[in-house]
Amino acid sequence: MKSVDRQTLQNARVLVVGDVMLDRYWYGSVERISPEAPVPVVKVLREEDRLGGSANVAFNVASLGAKASLLSVVGEDEASHKLEGLIKETGIEPFFGRDDSLKTTVKLRIIGRQQQLLRADFEATPKHEVLASQTERFNELVPKHQAVLFSDYGKGGLAHVKDMIQYAKANHVPILVDPKGSDYSRYQGATVITPNRSELIEVVGEWSSEEELAQKSQQLREQLSLDAVLVTRSEEGMSLFDDQGCLHVKAQAREVFDVTGAGDTVIATLASLMACGFTLRQALPWANKSGGIVVGKFGTACVSFEELFL
Ligand SMILES: Nc1ncnc2c1ncn2[C@@H]1O[C@H](COP(=O)(O)OP(=O)(O)OP(=O)(O)O)[C@@H](O)[C@H]1O
Ligand SMILES: [Mg+2]
Repeated sequence: MKSVDRQTLQNARVLVVGDVMLDRYWYGSVERISPEAPVPVVKVLREEDRLGGSANVAFNVASLGAKASLLSVVGEDEASHKLEGLIKETGIEPFFGRDDSLKTTVKLRIIGRQQQLLRADFEATPKHEVLASQTERFNELVPKHQAVLFSDYGKGGLAHVKDMIQYAKANHVPILVDPKGSDYSRYQGATVITPNRSELIEVVGEWSSEEELAQKSQQLREQLSLDAVLVTRSEEGMSLFDDQGCLHVKAQAREVFDVTGAGDTVIATLASLMACGFTLRQALPWANKSGGIVVGKFGTACVSFEELFL
């Protein structure tokens, strides 16, 4: 298995583009039912904010020891400043387009009695002008990076992904996409897309055998002129479909505590290693290993250089 040293990773620069969000947790105690409606009253005792969406992907790149730049659109609000603060602590370099009419995406969880009682989402689609200026920024940034990673959370931040992919392709930079939605034509020409099972079902339908999965994935790969399709299959591991055929790796987790964010860790690992010159097939076992490590941790988490390579 081809490995990498710390220094090589430190020189690898990954440009992460996509929807950032703030994962917010309010923990409290529940002692009574509201007199206003039949709902519990939570007395908030502790607040916690974490990087979410593409910011979590960039955090995963930085945790592995590679350099991450993060291009995204945010609002001009408390949440965006909080995000910026958290990002600075991680060493990620942020390139935020500000849309003052936008509410930065926040997913607020209210937790009492050890369970999630409510999740409230704040989100909106960014303005066209701000998105257009992101494309210019992108074009300036691409030549300074050795891999580009699009983390699509379907919030509208990747409206110009098609043009961005063409530009990155002309610059011969590996292009990795974590896709969303049912129209993948906008990812045309990328190096690899990494749908999970349900994301793939949304575009190609169900499969009832490995042969059918291979046939559907290869067809998608050809339609979109991709080098590869990597299907992440939770406890079934992951399958890479490229022009050599299928490379399958089994899931490695010893204990599974929390699977959220495993997909983020997988694509961040792939991008970091491809930025070091690894082929997809060389990077794959490491991505699988880091997926296995991260599901053994609570919350959306990251994997460090030591955990993965030493
Ligand atoms: N239950 C599990 N047991 C073992 N490994 C797992 C499990 N869930 C995830 N993994 C590992 O993590 C990888 C990615 O997981 P998955 O396919 O669930 O991605 P995902 O749905 O995109 O995750 P998310 O969207 O929550 O980030 C898998 O290919 C596997 O290596
Ligand atoms: Mg995912």
